[in-house]
Amino acid sequence: MMSKKPVSKKEVTPVKKAPQPLALPRGMRDILPSEQPAWDLMRSTCSSMANSYGFERIDTPILEETALFVRGVGKQTDIVEKEMYSFETVGGEKVTLRPESTASIMRSYISNGMLNLPQPVKLWYMGPMFRHDRPQHGRYRQFYQFGCEVIGDDDAVTDAQLALMAYAMLKDMGVDATIRINSIGTPESRVNYKNALVSYFRSKRARLPEDDKKRLLKNPLRLLDSKDPAVVEMKSEAPQIVDWLDEESKAHFMRVLEYLDEVAVPYQLDPYLVRGLDYYTKTVFEIYANTEDTETAQSALGGGGRYDGLAEILGGRPTPAAGFAFGLDRIASILRDLKINVPVTHIDVFVAQLGEQGRKKALAVFEELRRSGIRAAEAFSKDSIKAQMELANKRGAKWAVVIGQKEVLDGTAIVRDMESGTQEIVDVRKVVHELKKKLGSAEVKTEIQH
Ligand code: HAM
Repeated sequence: MMSKKPVSKKEVTPVKKAPQPLALPRGMRDILPSEQPAWDLMRSTCSSMANSYGFERIDTPILEETALFVRGVGKQTDIVEKEMYSFETVGGEKVTLRPESTASIMRSYISNGMLNLPQPVKLWYMGPMFRHDRPQHGRYRQFYQFGCEVIGDDDAVTDAQLALMAYAMLKDMGVDATIRINSIGTPESRVNYKNALVSYFRSKRARLPEDDKKRLLKNPLRLLDSKDPAVVEMKSEAPQIVDWLDEESKAHFMRVLEYLDEVAVPYQLDPYLVRGLDYYTKTVFEIYANTEDTETAQSALGGGGRYDGLAEILGGRPTPAAGFAFGLDRIASILRDLKINVPVTHIDVFVAQLGEQGRKKALAVFEELRRSGIRAAEAFSKDSIKAQMELANKRGAKWAVVIGQKEVLDGTAIVRDMESGTQEIVDVRKVVHELKKKLGSAEVKTEIQH
C-alpha cells in the first residue's frame, strides 16, 4: 500500500487573485488637476461675463421627475427616446438625471413664482448633464454645460444679445467662433413646413435608412439632423423652413439678424438648422469654432434659441423665453488644441526645510504665510534641499524660505531670490513681513512696466 504523501503547506494555500482595477463607466471621464486651469478659465469667464450682462446664478437639482424632460424636451427627441438615465427610486418615483437644464430652469421659474418678479428674469447655471449617447469625439455621457436663460421677454433683441454673449464669451477665452442661425417659426407655421418636408422625403423613401424612415413618420424635422451621407445629400434640395415662416416670425428673425449685424457678430444662415430639442420656436442658433480641424469644426460648442411655448407645456402661464448653453468639455478641448495660454497660478514662496527642528519651524512659517494671503507651497515630507529647490522652480516660486538646524538655533530663516540666486538671512519672526514687502514691491514694479 502506498502511504499518503503529506501535502506541503504551499500547495494548500489558495492563490489570492489580485482584484482587477475598476474602470470608469463608458462615456465618463475624470477632469484631472492638469486640466483644471482651463476649467477655471471657463468657469470664471462665463460667470463673470454673465453677471456683467445682468444674469444671476441659479442651481437646480441634478435629479428631476422624468415627466419634466418627456414633456419639456419632447417625447420624440433622441434625448428622451434613447439617451436618458432614468430610474425608479425605492419610493417609486420616476426620476431622471438631467440631460439639459432649460426645462429645469423653467420648472423652477414656475414653481417659485418668479413670474411675480420684475421681468425678464435672467438666470445662468453651470453643472453636469447626463445623456446616454454613443461616446465619440466631444461626446460624453456626463458632460458640463454653462447656460443662460432669459425668461419673460419676447423681443428679438434678446435673441441677438444671447448669441452675442456666447460669441463674446468664447472670444474672451481666445476662441474665434461663428454663429449658425435659423428660424423655425411658430408651431403653427411649422405644420405646413413639416408637410412639405414629408412629401419631399417620401418621394425618396427607398433611399432612407431605417431610422430615418421612422423619423419621417414621427418627427420629420429630425431628418435634417441626420448624419447619414445619403440623407445629407438629399437635404441639400429639401424645402427650407424660412420659406414657410409666418410674417411675425419672419419679421422677428430679420430683426435678430439686424442686431447681430449692428454688433458685428459673424453669423451664417443655416436653413436646415432645427436643433434636437422640441421646445424651440422662432430663433435657433449654434456656435462653432473657426478651425481647420474638421472634426472640431463640426461639433457645436453651444446651442440655443427661443422657446416661447415651454412655460405652457410645463403647466405655467404663457411666458416667452430664450437662452443658450455651452458644452464646456468641448470648449476645454478647443483650448487645449489651440494651445491657448491658460493662466496657471504660480506660487509666491516655497518653504524649504532641513532636519526635524527645521521642519517644525517651517510648518509654522508656512501657516503664517498662508494666513497672510501669500501663495505658498512646501514639500515637508522631502528631506533633500536639492529636491525641494527643484520643486520650487517647477512651481514658479519667486522666493524660497529655507530653515535648517542652524537657522532654528539662531532664530533666523534664509530668504532666497529664486531668479538671481542671492539670499539673505532674516529674523524668523519678521520673515512674513519681509516677504510681503518684497512681493508688494515686485507687483508695483510689474504694474509700472505695463
Ligand atoms: P444642446 O444643443 O443639446 O442644447 O446642448 C448644448 C451644448 O452642450 C452642445 O452644443 C454641446 O456643446 C454640449 N453637449 C451636448 N451633448 C453633449 C455630450 N453628449 N457631450 C459633450 N457635450 C455635449 C441644450 O442643452 C439646450 N438646453 C440649450 C438651451 C439653453 N437652449 C435654450 N436655452
